[in-house]
Amino acid sequence: MSKINSSTQLPTLKEFLNDWQPKPPFIPERALLENDITNLENQNNTQKDNYYKQNQDITNNQKNNLTEKEVNMTTTPIPAQLPEGMTEAQFLDGINYARNNWQNENASHLHVDKKLIREKFDLNGKKVLDFGCGMGGMTLWYATNWDCTVHGVDIDGHHIAVAKILQQQEGIKNIKFEKRDVLAAPLTEKYDMVFMNDVAEHIPLPILAQIMEQLGRSLTQSGKIFVTYPPWRSPYASHVNHVIRIPWVQFLPKKMVMNMIEDKNHPLVGEEESDLKAAYLGLNHLDHEKIMQIVENANLKVAYRKSHTILNRLGGSTLKNVNLNLGPLSFLVTKEFLLLENK
Ligand SMILES: C[S@@+](CC[C@H](N)C(=O)[O-])C[C@H]1O[C@@H](n2cnc3c(N)ncnc32)[C@H](O)[C@@H]1O
Repeated sequence: MSKINSSTQLPTLKEFLNDWQPKPPFIPERALLENDITNLENQNNTQKDNYYKQNQDITNNQKNNLTEKEVNMTTTPIPAQLPEGMTEAQFLDGINYARNNWQNENASHLHVDKKLIREKFDLNGKKVLDFGCGMGGMTLWYATNWDCTVHGVDIDGHHIAVAKILQQQEGIKNIKFEKRDVLAAPLTEKYDMVFMNDVAEHIPLPILAQIMEQLGRSLTQSGKIFVTYPPWRSPYASHVNHVIRIPWVQFLPKKMVMNMIEDKNHPLVGEEESDLKAAYLGLNHLDHEKIMQIVENANLKVAYRKSHTILNRLGGSTLKNVNLNLGPLSFLVTKEFLLLENK
């Protein structure tokens, strides 16, 4: 029997048992700093800066390595004024989702993104655009793992409102969140790196084409765009697999799928996609062929492509970096990763 590669996400027995041990609660950065704050009063500015830098690193490392359970143990204060049109339950749902995407390295749909980004990019000193940043989980991940500045842009006011509250509660300075429709108000800055994590499949194709052109024009000379998305043939491309546990459900007759979603329908945090049905109907059925047409027309080219399948995880080191995306194997690709640059 082939040996499971050490990069697999399956836990070892020890890790599994460890997961059941009670964990100490997460210590917020401020609490850690406040313990020593009085000792700082007589020190000079350089000593103070070093102290804060050191503690920032420690706390960011703690914050970036939590399990989902530990993330859920973090209590989020409810702001006196909730974002307009949002219930307390929706707010908590949203902020917990964002926290998990930020702090849990194995967050379900983002763990391969995170692994690849760590392997491929050094964002220190870089100006980063997180396009379609949603509630900011990945934006906070970029901003607390590297010494970079991040601009988080999203068209959805509810998502940006949650992201801003989380940023404020955590006192993270190197992010600017902005609700913006870039077709109405085009970007004016240049970026070294643009990320689109799970965004491209949510935008109607003609609009996506215009956005990609604009993003290409917003790159510095060596700037790159990293796009990640589940292709339509993927077992989980329907985005409703957490409630309808049928892989490739999107290939059943539309009426049948809509009836199944109707039964499980519930509100989501979002002005644009405000429930499961709207989220499903908003998908553009993106695949590699469709995105390549857009890439070509935007005068961009592919610097790197990875098609991730479960076989990459289970096949040992031989299969780890192979793109298994031809013929029927393309139905096993759970996520596509494209690094783009200007031609
Ligand atoms: C599935 S979420 C991904 C959020 C985030 N990137 C993440 O990884 O958690 C897709 C996001 O794309 C945003 N979006 C859709 N169309 C957009 C557009 N035209 N401009 C900016 N953001 C858009 C949605 O509002 C939503 O927040």
